[in-house]
Amino acid sequence: MDYVIILYHKILNEELTLSKITTPTVILNFKTYLESSGENALKLAKALENVANESGITMVAAPQTADIFRINDETNIPILAQHIDPISPGGHTGSNLLECLMESGINGTLLNHSEIRMKLADIGYIVKKIRDNDLFSVVCTNNIETSVAAATLNPNFVAVEPPELIGSGIPVSQAEPEIVEGTVAKVKKINKNVEILCGAGISTGEDMKAAMDLGASGVLLASGIILAKDPQSALLDLVSKI
Ligand code: G3P
Repeated sequence: MDYVIILYHKILNEELTLSKITTPTVILNFKTYLESSGENALKLAKALENVANESGITMVAAPQTADIFRINDETNIPILAQHIDPISPGGHTGSNLLECLMESGINGTLLNHSEIRMKLADIGYIVKKIRDNDLFSVVCTNNIETSVAAATLNPNFVAVEPPELIGSGIPVSQAEPEIVEGTVAKVKKINKNVEILCGAGISTGEDMKAAMDLGASGVLLASGIILAKDPQSALLDLVSKI
C-alpha cells in the first residue's frame, strides 16, 4: 500500500514538473542586470506570470541564485537556475549545488551559457543528474557543430546563440537564420527528443515568429525584455504573432 502511495505521488509530481515547461517556450535569462535583481527580479517574474496567464504560452524565469527561493514562493512559473556547478555536496565554497537549488524550487537549469562556458564532460554530468531528478536542462551552444555535440548528451533543450549577437539588438532569427535552421535539421537527425531554442538579439513578436518559422520551439532572451521601458508590454508583444 505504501508503495502504491509513493508511486502515485511520484507519478503526480513528475506530471506536475514535466507539464510545467511546454512548447512554445519563452525563457527569460535575468543575467545580472540591476533591472532583474532582487525586488526587480520579483516584479519581472510577476510580469512573466501575467503574460503566461494571458497568452497561455509557457514563460520561464532564469533568475540569479539568490532570487530563486522568493520567486518560487511568490509566483507559479517554471524557474531555471542560470548555471549549476559539476560538484557533489561537500567543500566547494561559492558554487551552485543542484541539491540546494532543487530545494529552492528550480525546475531545471541553463548550462554552458556563453557567459559561463563549461567542459563537455561537465555538461554531460549535470544533464544526467538533472534528468535523474526529472528536471529540465537547457544547454546553450554557439553554432551548429556544438549544438550537435550538446544534443548527444540528451538534454531537453539546446539553445543556439551566436555570442556576437548577444545583447546587440540584432535578432539571430533574422541576422543568421541559417544557424537556427541548420541546428534544427542536424539536431533532430541525431536526437529527435531535443527541442531547439534560439537566442541573441531577440526582442519583438516578429523576431519570435521568425524563430518559430525556422523550426525553433521558442526563444531564450534577456536584454530586449529586461531593459524595456515596460517589460510586461514587451513580453506581450513577443508572443503576439505566434
Ligand atoms: O541567454 C540569453 C542571451 O544570452 C541573449 O541575450 O540580451 O541578446 O537577449 P540578449
